[in-house]
Amino acid sequence: MLAGKKILLIIGGGIAAFKSLDLIRRLRDGGAEVVPVLTKASEEFVTPLSASALSAQKVYRDLFDLTDEAEMGHIELSRAADLVVVAPATADLMGKMANGLANDLASTLLLATDKPVMIVPAMNVRMWEHAATQRNLATLQGDGILVCGPDEGAMACGEFGPGRMAEVPDIVAAVEAALRDGPLKGKRILVTSGPTHEPIDPVRYIANRSSGAQGTAIANALAALGADVVFVTGPADVERPQGVEIIEVQTANEMLEATQSALPVDAAVFAAAVADWRVLSASDSKIKKNGSGKLPVLEFAENPDILASVSQMKTGRPGLVVGFAAETDDVIVNATSKRLRKQCDWIIANDVSPETGIMGGAENQVVVITDSGAKAWPRMDKDDVAKRLAAEISVALEANG
Ligand code: CTP
Repeated sequence: MLAGKKILLIIGGGIAAFKSLDLIRRLRDGGAEVVPVLTKASEEFVTPLSASALSAQKVYRDLFDLTDEAEMGHIELSRAADLVVVAPATADLMGKMANGLANDLASTLLLATDKPVMIVPAMNVRMWEHAATQRNLATLQGDGILVCGPDEGAMACGEFGPGRMAEVPDIVAAVEAALRDGPLKGKRILVTSGPTHEPIDPVRYIANRSSGAQGTAIANALAALGADVVFVTGPADVERPQGVEIIEVQTANEMLEATQSALPVDAAVFAAAVADWRVLSASDSKIKKNGSGKLPVLEFAENPDILASVSQMKTGRPGLVVGFAAETDDVIVNATSKRLRKQCDWIIANDVSPETGIMGGAENQVVVITDSGAKAWPRMDKDDVAKRLAAEISVALEANG
């Protein structure tokens, strides 16, 4: 699995850096080529000579090392690898990454790379638990950065708790998984998206303000992690996602049919804003003003609940069913009862009151409700919500086996 793969290993400055030397050996045992990059701080813990000897490679050390720059520019170096691993990832390095700083070779490579990046955090337990570190972690996960560890246990500083660098065999396993062309490789995932249009007559319809942006971003993020995505979309405004199977529909009934035809899947995300009602007797011809002053009266029928029907399947239910809850009042209370009523595994709740600017906007602020409670995510771009959700889906499917 590692044979022929190139790994750029950025070694941060922490007591756990000594484990990175062993990591070089184990990755090479598996057939990988490892190019080490040392930060200034890491040279307090490991020497360039030992990193170079173990990797059998030139070690890169500083942004302004002109010899290195002449041989291989930092942009090129950052892209020559299949995967960039940061081990140990110190609180400082995580902070730089989360904020896009680039003031030395390591941080510049991390900003310049177009390859997947995995961090292996290692730090004192208080530093790990600090709100700033957790905020940075959330940002990095939102950016699609993979995270391995940290472990819980006795630390070099004498304290106990989470923060210890993952053990080398676990890091090697995580690297292998990351190189599998994305952690969702081999997983088939359904995403519904956009509004539905319910006809009144051939020229008029009832719809809602959904743009399809969030569902599209989710489909893109899942595909970027290697999933085979089936994207069932109503008539949405936004550009369709790349590299996924697309089924275009108009009405809720068509969306139900397309969804059923896409099954079985490993996971399903219902981001569509499905119209709750359709016009019972939609006219086949355009309804005309007849001059009598008599206004048409529309009679409605309830549409099928696609999310509930899939969540409640007795056989062949997807391993993970994720719904959305568009609410304007009592968001958490309503979304929590919606999850139970529909019987999906997770509900992504959002406040779609006009003043939030969420429906049709670029940003989203969600609360993720699972059987272990409600977790509020910070307000962020819909693309970042999508990346973080895709990462969490990937973790959940991995745990399901
Ligand atoms: N949903 C669905 N089929 C429907 C209605 C909703 O699949 N006919 C899905 C949506 O895609 C979303 C979730 O159900 O994942 C919740 O949608 P929402 O509009 O918030 O809830 P409703 O069921 O419509 O309930 P209400 O309008 O009463 O809040």
